[in-house]
Amino acid sequence: MEKTHSMYAGLEEGNVASYIPKLAEADPRWFGLTLASTNGSTFSAGDSRQEFSIQSISKAFVYALVCDSVGHDEVRERIGVNNTGLPFNSVMAIELNAGHTMNPMVNAGALATTSLVPGESWDQKWEFIHAGLSAFAGRDLVLDDDVYQSEMETNLRNLSIARLLQSYGHIAVDPACVTELYTRQCSLRVTTEDLAIMGATLANGGAHPVTGASVVSPAVSQDVLSVMATTGMYEASGDWLYEIGMPGKSGVAGGVVTVAPGKGSLAIFSPPLDAAGNSVRGIHATAHLSRKLGLNLF
Ligand code: DON
Repeated sequence: MEKTHSMYAGLEEGNVASYIPKLAEADPRWFGLTLASTNGSTFSAGDSRQEFSIQSISKAFVYALVCDSVGHDEVRERIGVNNTGLPFNSVMAIELNAGHTMNPMVNAGALATTSLVPGESWDQKWEFIHAGLSAFAGRDLVLDDDVYQSEMETNLRNLSIARLLQSYGHIAVDPACVTELYTRQCSLRVTTEDLAIMGATLANGGAHPVTGASVVSPAVSQDVLSVMATTGMYEASGDWLYEIGMPGKSGVAGGVVTVAPGKGSLAIFSPPLDAAGNSVRGIHATAHLSRKLGLNLF
């Protein structure tokens, strides 16, 4: 891990996200890596204890929790599992698909997924998400209030997407409340050590690799990994699968988690992003480790 870290630490490509003002304060040199195996052992290098907001990586785990509660067929019917071929915050993708969301890994499908979270009140729905993501990590995850406030002040586009979905009958609850809840799930703080364990839980059929606790079923883990493989890296998912050969999910704070089913997971944090919103060092270092460790599934 140390060697991989030093191979890519000097790479100076990409830009730190700035459309959420607080994220622009990230240090572009931050670079952390953690590999976690399904037996619970972890190997880290660099800034593996630096906390950052989980952002879109939360989509995969909230989707897992919603699949577990709502069921495979209904979620597939209501959210979809195909790549949009368009950016993560595309409105056109909704219009081109007769008002339906196409998958849970882009904002439209993620907002629709969050609208399906069980709970009678918004507090209960938040508790479901917070407890569920914390169970994946094996520790109580904390909200980054500054990132949350910063995104709440600038998330008009997500609010518009939620309203558009409501107009098409695909969000049945208050779109402003869904957008707020989604923004909160994106603002949970994690480290690469957390993310690698969260990914290793999916690699392990939904059972936490350290505690053995069942967070979601093996069938749900399989569903989440397939949709991560087709759409986890947005319009660049084909390039990712071609180079890396495993399901992955990125977030705009610079996190990226990759899952090797049955084996474990690799999490990387490095804020500079490419045009699709994926961590540049994350892509290079993951491709290197996938080749070196022979992890490509194909
Ligand atoms: O909704 C947003 O725009 C952010 N909260 C999350 C987007 C994101 O992480 C895209 N990923 N690379």
